[in-house]
Amino acid sequence: MDALWKNTTDLPSYESLKNNINVDVAIIGGGLAGILTAYKLKEKGINAAIFEAKEICSGTTGYTTAKISLAHGLIYNYLIDNFSLEKAKEYADYNKRAIKEFEDLINKENINCEFKKCSSFLYSTLYDYHLKEEYEAAIKCGIDCEFLDERKLPKRFKGAIKYTNQAKFNPLKFVKHIINGLKIYENTFIKEFNGDNKELTTDKGYKIKADKIVFACHYPFVNTPGYYFLRMHQERSYVLIAENTKKLKNVYLDVDDKSYSFRSYDKYLLFGGENHRTGENKEGDKYKLLREKLRTFDKDYKEVGQYSTQDCISIDKVPYIGLFSDSLKDVYVLTGFNKWGMTSSMLGSNIIADMISNGLDNKNSIFSPSRFDTKGIVKSAIKEGPYSIKGLSKEFLDIPNTELDKLPLGHGGVVKYNGKKVGVYKDESGKCFIVSTKCPHLGCELSWNPDEKSWDCPCHGSRFDYMGNIINDPSVENLEFIEKK
Ligand SMILES: Cc1cc2nc3c(=O)[nH]c(=O)nc-3n(C[C@H](O)[C@H](O)[C@H](O)COP(=O)(O)OP(=O)(O)OC[C@H]3O[C@@H](n4cnc5c(N)ncnc54)[C@H](O)[C@@H]3O)c2cc1C
Ligand code: FES
Repeated sequence: MDALWKNTTDLPSYESLKNNINVDVAIIGGGLAGILTAYKLKEKGINAAIFEAKEICSGTTGYTTAKISLAHGLIYNYLIDNFSLEKAKEYADYNKRAIKEFEDLINKENINCEFKKCSSFLYSTLYDYHLKEEYEAAIKCGIDCEFLDERKLPKRFKGAIKYTNQAKFNPLKFVKHIINGLKIYENTFIKEFNGDNKELTTDKGYKIKADKIVFACHYPFVNTPGYYFLRMHQERSYVLIAENTKKLKNVYLDVDDKSYSFRSYDKYLLFGGENHRTGENKEGDKYKLLREKLRTFDKDYKEVGQYSTQDCISIDKVPYIGLFSDSLKDVYVLTGFNKWGMTSSMLGSNIIADMISNGLDNKNSIFSPSRFDTKGIVKSAIKEGPYSIKGLSKEFLDIPNTELDKLPLGHGGVVKYNGKKVGVYKDESGKCFIVSTKCPHLGCELSWNPDEKSWDCPCHGSRFDYMGNIINDPSVENLEFIEKK
């Protein structure tokens, strides 16, 4: 099994777009962010249409661990230090309201999505001072939580924070209910955006004319204006689906560097972690490391599935929700959820629906993308820049020594072939799939991900299968396929 939520939920299918159309609001992307935005707009009497490249919830939403929580790692101390107490409180309040809104909506509409109230624990097995600081910051932000020192915890733990009134659910069962009555087009890949005319073009060449456009496609594929490529990268995580484990009532997150995250669902345990920046998994073996870690908790578990997925990481740990760019009227964005897209989608959909329906101006909000003025973009470029420079310069400077015939069966890598640098995957029968290693997005050099048999970009996280077909945005083009031999 590679997708627990998909395996436990039958979502309906939708036709692809087969003609040019005009819509009031065009939403690009049918993950939780896009679907909730369409739902909120419908509640306000505004018609929106969702355009989804594949099937709804086939992106990160289909693979999330689905904790509905405001315990977003060590965040509140950081926000107080880097923004202000007032902004940190704003972040906490929005997330608190988002949790309550899930509960109210699910109760009101009687949605059967295994929504369960629970506590959320952050813990460390190394030390506790960072958790103590985080606890004090969370209290200042008005969050209900309790600090637990090692005397109150099982032996291996040094400290923990327990956040009450959190929740977990099955996100696809939730989506199955709220999509009723929404206008959705699947297998409709948006390839071009014209901001002046508010026009989108699909990969089949159909035109969509809209009064307003919402980018809810995870990593926006438009580079300028907005400059999201300078202020966001993607991070991959790996997840095991296990049976025969203890049923956990609550949800857990390790705040040490591997970020192990786990929760139960029905008879299953989802156990995730081993995060890395997309494009930086040369060594591989992430599932093996996860198995070893899980065995330290429960040596009798039975593995029934595994998968990996990725999310957008903003430069300052806060999502970008609001106007896509100050220079683009009527174009909105929800992105940069930092692996906390359940509450972020809920609060983000409220913000965008209010902006569209009653002209809410969120410029002063902590979530506003324009908190990044030119100075901010330059600062973020300094942080993200080295990755791009490294990724770009490798393309020109680094010619590999490895030859095609030296590559073992079942392996991939960058090799010299016909005097040129190429990417190759050699399958178990010796067939070679040869592609360019230049990312079609902005030209960085791709690297081989041995755990997923994919070509991944370290700059902004685009991914391609070994045939060069695009798996993850922001690239809208496939990789150049050179040869099969
Ligand atoms: C391992 C892991 C665990 C997580 N666990 C949690 C958790 O416990 N709690 C939590 O709050 N968050 C969690 N998250 C984060 C959360 O799952 C995501 O932030 C959220 O699902 C993102 O939703 P989305 O709608 O923005 O993106 P997606 O679900 O990725 O949806 C975007 C959609 O846009 C489509 N699309 C892309 N480009 C185009 C295009 N050009 N044209 C048309 N369509 C396009 C894609 O096909 C996709 O379906 C986790 C993330 C990871 C990686
Ligand atoms: S994803 Fe931007 S250069 Fe590859």
